[in-house]
Amino acid sequence: MARFIDELKRTHSCGALRASHADQEVVLFGWVANRRDHGNLVFVDLRDREGVTQIVFDPEASKEAHALAQALRSEWVIGIRGKVKLRGEQFSQKEGKMVSARNPNLPTGEIEVEVLELGVFNKSETPPFEITDRCDTGEEVRLTYRYLDLRRGPLQAALKARHTIAQATRNFLSDNGCLEVETPFLVKYTPGGARNFLVPSRVHSGKFYALAESPQLFKQLLMCAGYERYFQIVRCFRDEDSRLDRQPEFTQIDIEMSFINQDDLFTVIEGLVGAIWKATLGIDLAEQYPGGPDHPAGFPKFPRMRFEDSMRYYGNDKPDLRFDMKHTDITELVVEHKGGGVPFWEPIAQKFADGTYRADLPAEIVKVLVVPASANLSRKDGDELEKLAKSMGAGGLARAKVGAGGEWTQSPLNKMMTVELRDAINRASGAQEGDLIIFQSGKAQLVHTVMANLRVYLGKRLGLIPEVGHGGNFNFLWVVDPPLFEYDEETKSWAAAHHAFTRPHDDCVDLIDKDPGKVLCYRYDLVLNGFEIGGGSIRLHDPAVQAKVFAALGIDGDEARQKFGFLLDALKFGAPPHGGIALGMDRLVMLLTGRESLRDVIAFPKTQKAVDLMSDAPTAVTNQQLRDLHIRTVEES
Ligand code: AMO
Repeated sequence: MARFIDELKRTHSCGALRASHADQEVVLFGWVANRRDHGNLVFVDLRDREGVTQIVFDPEASKEAHALAQALRSEWVIGIRGKVKLRGEQFSQKEGKMVSARNPNLPTGEIEVEVLELGVFNKSETPPFEITDRCDTGEEVRLTYRYLDLRRGPLQAALKARHTIAQATRNFLSDNGCLEVETPFLVKYTPGGARNFLVPSRVHSGKFYALAESPQLFKQLLMCAGYERYFQIVRCFRDEDSRLDRQPEFTQIDIEMSFINQDDLFTVIEGLVGAIWKATLGIDLAEQYPGGPDHPAGFPKFPRMRFEDSMRYYGNDKPDLRFDMKHTDITELVVEHKGGGVPFWEPIAQKFADGTYRADLPAEIVKVLVVPASANLSRKDGDELEKLAKSMGAGGLARAKVGAGGEWTQSPLNKMMTVELRDAINRASGAQEGDLIIFQSGKAQLVHTVMANLRVYLGKRLGLIPEVGHGGNFNFLWVVDPPLFEYDEETKSWAAAHHAFTRPHDDCVDLIDKDPGKVLCYRYDLVLNGFEIGGGSIRLHDPAVQAKVFAALGIDGDEARQKFGFLLDALKFGAPPHGGIALGMDRLVMLLTGRESLRDVIAFPKTQKAVDLMSDAPTAVTNQQLRDLHIRTVEES
């Protein structure tokens, strides 16, 4: 029978002991975070997932333990029995006098444990990097030894926050009538949406499952089945290129509800986000976002912005509103002034001369962004901005510095442009003397994207938003009322902007066949600090409207059956009005804990190349395995 674990049970975690425990005998288990040999005394910081406690080996307390302690090294895993002592005074070389040995930076810093008995559970090889909160070791090495990386404080804090979020979510949603139901991962492949991972079937030669990119169809089927309110904290799989805010497998808080409208759904999600923030950070979002008398008490109410305004003023549908710096869309001015003498604006003006200009349609547009004089951008800074714009696909980045009386200097535009248009642009954008105006014109999507990225870049550069993390400022926004269809210039046809089962606004139904571009729908995104943390829609459950939508998309009966067969069937058997949303759980944790990358908040993430460096997945498999799956691989030439 082993002395530690069998006889001596752990009494406290390494983060638990305080001055009030003085003189108690305790048993701690943990890892040697570091060891300092002060001749007679050996100090060890003992670490477990809850914190660090200083333990001290004094030969006067236990000769045996003290002798054993000489051998201890980093990451050995040990158990100790000892007595809690208040930390006294120690001599400070720096100050040349006795000072308090208490460590105010450590929750357990008032005490130390004098060791009476030591047991070594296991030794450790020297780890490939030091396990400290701040760690300069490259991410590749840390991912290769993820189990060591996970011993570090910041990762432990992130995973604890994840746990708290999951708990708060389950409590809140189950209190609000949602039932947690699991749905399959191995599903039928359906075209459209994100690229799926495919899983070959051994039993059915030549056939494949897809790994579910989300439980979308199944949660709608649960509504058809009368489950009314569903949620799931669920893994989703998408074979997309990874980014800092994107992983091939990630987690959604997935929700679907029956007999609700968009406002009802927003209220529940606002309550959920409020509960998560309270549980993890102790922040009451209802103070920052009060809901008013009709809103449930304690629930925050987030502002809303129309999709069209979001594109017009910020260039994307996830604006970071922690700072202002709006874009000014000057297309209408350019049209009004017939290009204002600028040769490359004239074709744009001609295209819209008949008054067809619309900010939401694929078109050519002209936008400006004003960088305030206080930013003190040099010519070189301007060149840097242009480089950045070019890296995003822009042809260039016209700029003009506003001088006294509104004239423009340092700009080729100055020579071409009429004074009238110049003055109109100054007025529309609010540019003042000393400000720098930057211009972008061309295809709407590119102009929006370039200007959206420049806005965020400048916001960071000018210190308007923190370089990393959230800076304690959480800015929530619903982006609502986007168009149902988007025009695909390649195929010269209308496509569903989100998915074909999104409900159009009732007053737009007549436009579906007449002017699809003008049809708005009940689709919404929840944005936090410039990140899309959730998205969903009210679904289309009315077969007559659905037929119109399919017709506008050019989907005939056969194609619809092939793509969405079982959902279409289910919708015929008494489908209730329903809608839902999925929150990106990993993004929530990332933003809430102020991290830069999803990899900092997922226990075992993939790299940007979708590789697990620790286990070395994906790997080749044997020919026999391939034969079993009826698969032959082809060497890429
Ligand atoms: P959507 O595709 O918008 O909606 O996804 C919902 C949320 O999931 C997060 N997310 C991701 N997080 C990490 N890595 C990824 N690759 C990734 N992709 C998406 C985002 C996003 O807002 N079924 C619909 C929801 C619905 O309509 O109810 C869906 O999946 O935060």
